[in-house]
Amino acid sequence: MTDQTQSNFQTEALIADDIDAYLEAQQHKSMLRFITCGSVDDGKSTLIGRLLYDSKMIFEDQLDALESDSKKVGTQGQEIDFALLVDGLAAEREQGITIDVAYRFFATEKRKFIVADCPGHEQYTRNMVTGASTADLAIILIDARKGVLVQTRRHSFLCKLLGIRNIVLAVNKMDLVDYDQPTFEHIVADYRAFANEIGIEDFTAIPISGLAGDNITTNSEATSWYEGPTLIDHLETVEVSSAVNREKPFRLPVQWVNRPNLDFRGFSGLVSSGTVRPGDELRVLPSGKTSKVKSIVTFEGELEEGFAGQSLTITLEDEVDCSRGDVLATADAPPEVSDQFETSIVWMDDEDLTVGRSYWLKLGTQMVSATVQAPKYEINVNTMEHLAAKTLQLNSIGVAELTTDRPIVFEPYEKNRTLGGFILIDKMTNRTVAAGMLHFSLRRAQNVHWQATDITREAHANLKNQAPRVLWFTGLSGSGKSTIANEVEKRLNLMNRHTFLLDGDNIRHGLNKDLGFTDTDRIENIRRIGEVAKLMADAGLVVLTAFISPFRAERRMVRDMLPEGEFIEVFVDTPLEVAEERDVKGLYKKARAGDLKNFTGIDSPYEEPENAEIRVNTVEMTAEEAAAYIVDQIMPLR
Ligand code: ADX
Repeated sequence: MTDQTQSNFQTEALIADDIDAYLEAQQHKSMLRFITCGSVDDGKSTLIGRLLYDSKMIFEDQLDALESDSKKVGTQGQEIDFALLVDGLAAEREQGITIDVAYRFFATEKRKFIVADCPGHEQYTRNMVTGASTADLAIILIDARKGVLVQTRRHSFLCKLLGIRNIVLAVNKMDLVDYDQPTFEHIVADYRAFANEIGIEDFTAIPISGLAGDNITTNSEATSWYEGPTLIDHLETVEVSSAVNREKPFRLPVQWVNRPNLDFRGFSGLVSSGTVRPGDELRVLPSGKTSKVKSIVTFEGELEEGFAGQSLTITLEDEVDCSRGDVLATADAPPEVSDQFETSIVWMDDEDLTVGRSYWLKLGTQMVSATVQAPKYEINVNTMEHLAAKTLQLNSIGVAELTTDRPIVFEPYEKNRTLGGFILIDKMTNRTVAAGMLHFSLRRAQNVHWQATDITREAHANLKNQAPRVLWFTGLSGSGKSTIANEVEKRLNLMNRHTFLLDGDNIRHGLNKDLGFTDTDRIENIRRIGEVAKLMADAGLVVLTAFISPFRAERRMVRDMLPEGEFIEVFVDTPLEVAEERDVKGLYKKARAGDLKNFTGIDSPYEEPENAEIRVNTVEMTAEEAAAYIVDQIMPLR
């Protein structure tokens, strides 16, 4: 019997004896999350099988018990940290899209382990991202007969990108090369050269055989020339990130505000780094207000100290404003606040990135709208070359600037994965479309501040004795938007309302004359109109806009820019056949003849509104009737 099987035997006896004592013992072990990279041929399954076999595999239901227990006492926060990706993935699962990352759990005397087992093919970049984003360590598996391969480079690059600090180069199948030391050393030298190139400073190389069990749990006599640790030794002793994170400044992204009664107001969340004690001076971000910690509360009572990885509730000495999405931080070493960034983005959706479109960005507990600029470049993950790119496709990785609609609290991903890692969610489909890493803030954003003005939007509107509105007409080219909007404006004018009509063809002669009709240009067209319409509404006007505005996402974006109820979507519902039949400007004819590209309804899409406030059918109504109906719907406008 080996030492390990003996200890397994004892473990089994302990489990049989007293499951509570066993769980208790498990609880106080640290947890290492790691990822294995390689293809089936490299012997990945065999290696994982070997680890599970030589240590003690714990079945899934026990894992559930362990994890929910540890959440209760708040010692194992990493599960919740994982929420960043899991949230998105759970949403995907509901829609029947599966991502094949298998998580396996095992434990030794010293430590608990979660292995993310990711398929190695190139098209599974996103699986690897899922597995790697929470891993402390990566085992890069190499077949000793084959050496460093393209996929070794790809996996290593992704591990580096996703901030994995510990890399193990497991040179496998040593038995098939007669445990030859020069072969091993040659592979290590090869890998070192590549690792240096991509900024991996250090790694641990171990000659193993998953099949024969060499250097997995016990030092192999066949490799007497090797003096380093066995794989398990290394996994048991490498420093886990929760320990490293404890040394950093304190950060608690606030998940919710706990207010059971008027006397208690606590801010709850998972500590992403640092330690905290009563009396510590904390800063609330983004507001910047400071206060001192009054108490630290958990399910088990008050604590004298809290640290990274724990879920805590903190109460402060003063009544400062703080809500979900804010971050509590060490007062004299706070994270940054910005709304423009350089980022790395891993695109994970079948539908390409649409430059300029507004996506939800989720970072820790913060959720904001964000748009991505045209990528600066895409990275070929096999060669590390930078390629020119207009967009990002499934599994591609690029560097791009990103803008959020309001400032967020962040740290560079390199420093803090929780406050530097984000996901993007499509607003229409709710799918997680990308994972990303913030590199740094573009200084532009820090130097431009919002200027608060004394005459408020209410003051502007009051003077005009009306309530501002944005009447957003949408429909096909030639549907009658401009005609009806013009008619509505005339009527409002007669009723002494202050209005302004923004019309597609006109704006495209001035403000937007640099834009054409690609999806990206149309999105930018609508974004600018949205911003202008918002300013005019701030000035107290009733704004009418007549643009095809073919995409739901952008109409929704403008809606979200305005106070609730101010945006009124008017769908000018004219069937394509009718608009084409009318063909007032002769453009449909040109488009059909192939002389006009990207024409809406012909070779460019129009997404009909699903819940427009007002819909007018121009087949059944004249423009005057439609206008009268619309005015009737929006009155009294006060
Ligand atoms: S939008 O799609 O970006 O909202 P917008 O309303 O500004 O379009 O402009 C549409 C007008 O531009 C049409 O009414 C038509 O007169 C003209 N136009 C020229 N080329 C196109 C095209 N490819 N698709 C649609 N409209 C076009």
